[in-house]
Amino acid sequence: MKLMICTSNKKKFEEISSMLKALNIEFVKPPYELDVEETANTFLSNAYLKARAYYEAFGIPALADDSGLVIEALGGRPGVYSARFYKEEFGSHVLKEEDYNLPKDDLNNLKVLRLLENEENRRAKFVSAIVVMMSNSQGIFGEGELKGYIAKEPSGSLGFGYDPIFIPEGYDVSLANIEHKNEISHRRKALNALFDMLKKVL
Ligand code: IMP
Repeated sequence: MKLMICTSNKKKFEEISSMLKALNIEFVKPPYELDVEETANTFLSNAYLKARAYYEAFGIPALADDSGLVIEALGGRPGVYSARFYKEEFGSHVLKEEDYNLPKDDLNNLKVLRLLENEENRRAKFVSAIVVMMSNSQGIFGEGELKGYIAKEPSGSLGFGYDPIFIPEGYDVSLANIEHKNEISHRRKALNALFDMLKKVL
């Protein structure tokens, strides 16, 4: 039995396949990347759009995820726009021209920190939605959250994306300092939610 993990991110492929290794199935990468527009306004719908497109293109059970950071004081943003938050009109006044020389992740983090500069409510959560399409009409899904707070400044060198500015609940350091991130992550929780169902249908 094969399961295609629809990502071009090597780290994510390894993270997901190692979390699901007890399923004893073969994990495969897509032959090539599809340009699926994530046009929906929920993580779950975007994961579904991606999984369905990959299933239809390659005919192999396809797993896709969509994830992001949800910040209470910003009305849920960056949300489904997490990857491209630095380009969004919302809050663009806090970035200066020279900031755009920074790497994308640093720019996203800078934008969040500036928008929250005078904000006391720093509550936030990472959300992950994962969808597996087994046929054109049969799919299963799982969702997971990791609650926490936005730090005052970035720290740590592990992980990716918003990890340096996110402090999980119950910790006093950012996710970019936590070596066992994969055990507590939103993706792990979404996969756990999916695991038993996946065992039955694969
Ligand atoms: P996607 O699910 O790969 O589309 O990820 C969307 C964006 O959400 C990423 O580019 C990151 O900015 C952010 N993100 C998702 N998961 C994480 C995480 O575990 N740590 C930090 N940032 C994340």
